[in-house]
Amino acid sequence: MLSFDDLKARGLFDERLPRYTSYPPAPAFHDGMGAAFQAEALAALDPGEPISLYLHIPFCERLCWFCACRTQGVRSIAPVEHYIGTLEAELALIKDHLPGRIRVGQMHWGGGTPTILPPALITRLRNALGTVFDFDPDTEFSVEIDPTLVDADKVVALREAGMTRASIGVQDFAEVVQNCIGRLQSFEQTRDAVDLLRAAGIGSLNIDLVYGLPFQSITGFGKTLDQVCALDPDRIALFGYAHVPHMAQRQKLIPEAALPDDRARFALFNKATEMLTAHGLAPIGIDHFAKPGDSMAQAARTGHLRRNFQGYTVDGCETLLGLGASSISKFRDGFVQNTAQTGPYTKLIKDGSLAGARGYRLTEEDRLRSRVIEMLMCDYAIDFEELALSAADMALLAPGLAALRAECRGLITESPGRLSLSPEARPLVRRLAHFFDTFTLQNVGFSRVS
Ligand SMILES: C[S@@+](CC[C@H](N)C(=O)[O-])C[C@H]1O[C@@H](n2cnc3c(N)ncnc32)[C@H](O)[C@@H]1O
Ligand code: SF4
Repeated sequence: MLSFDDLKARGLFDERLPRYTSYPPAPAFHDGMGAAFQAEALAALDPGEPISLYLHIPFCERLCWFCACRTQGVRSIAPVEHYIGTLEAELALIKDHLPGRIRVGQMHWGGGTPTILPPALITRLRNALGTVFDFDPDTEFSVEIDPTLVDADKVVALREAGMTRASIGVQDFAEVVQNCIGRLQSFEQTRDAVDLLRAAGIGSLNIDLVYGLPFQSITGFGKTLDQVCALDPDRIALFGYAHVPHMAQRQKLIPEAALPDDRARFALFNKATEMLTAHGLAPIGIDHFAKPGDSMAQAARTGHLRRNFQGYTVDGCETLLGLGASSISKFRDGFVQNTAQTGPYTKLIKDGSLAGARGYRLTEEDRLRSRVIEMLMCDYAIDFEELALSAADMALLAPGLAALRAECRGLITESPGRLSLSPEARPLVRRLAHFFDTFTLQNVGFSRVS
């Protein structure tokens, strides 16, 4: 493994780069590719092709100071209920633009906190989706769960709505960390939520952890990791804390002096990797771990892992349709993001307009670069056989490949059809992906590379 100093000498810790959940990254989207582009893309969908759905619920009862998600605090259920009415109206508008009923292969409810919805609103939202889309009994349906805001009735309603996977927010159980990130959540509360989900028959559980939080220590985080392993999740997402107070105002409450430095972050990540792999979880991409039998681990082994706005996924659908304020859709021809703020989003929908505000139309060159970047992020490799490059494609990729080879001298293996990074080169992967990125967006609010 390359040491901290080796990686630092290569500039790893000094850069802010995209996490490449899309290419181009969302800051490259621009005005003028909004509702009209969205309408065109919806009309062009093939009713024979299943799609993925993402629903954004931008509300929380608690507002954790570390959180960079698009969400707002609410004290009553009234604004949430109003928002569900707006989602119903958005669905009706979308239905008017679709060529027919469309099948859903995968669905994800994220936020914010989807478990802020009481059972009646969960059922109402699921029924509204059923008026536009067809769901198979085996449609994968995952929901982000806040263990402090869930109960048996909500879990039953979600299960009846078809939930197959739950993603549970933990971050860190250490009290000193929790006090400093404005998020109190005991191990016992979390274990109760896990028990509720398993009792309801939810077969797959993910737990979110974050390293790089204030006052996080190797000992304290090690204890959290032991507790998390005791809950026996199928997957773990281990995110590096993104401290972007200029974008997420509530992070101004985080005492910067208490944040671990680059060396300490690196040690925290390595400690977690060591403990999770010792527990039998396979590392996947830059920030996931999964049991070997889990579909994500299988996809990683067989080269079927993909990357979208939710991070790593086994979802092979070409189209991802986002509903709700700030959600992003990916169509064959490009991306469209809905208006971010809930108020203006609601007004647009109420006035009978789709809510797309900004987006990007993909060129053939973007598609090629996007797939190369996705291969690096998912497989730590470039599969030239799959890419079947023309001479013109090869010329486009040549500068990126030359930069990658120079950076990774001795750290790659190459055969005629494939270039693979050695395990030592893996921490560099976002830098290497950036060699194929023609959008000069470095430092535009992106997170640390490690
Ligand atoms: C929508 S939240 C999780 C669901 C639920 N609201 C909860 O808190 O339990 C999604 C996840 O994003 C991650 N996250 C949020 N802000 C982050 C940040 N600044 N840096 C890294 N990860 C972050 C956390 O791991 C969090 O669990
Ligand atoms: S971590 Fe979850 S509960 Fe906390 S503010 Fe973010 S979305 Fe809301």
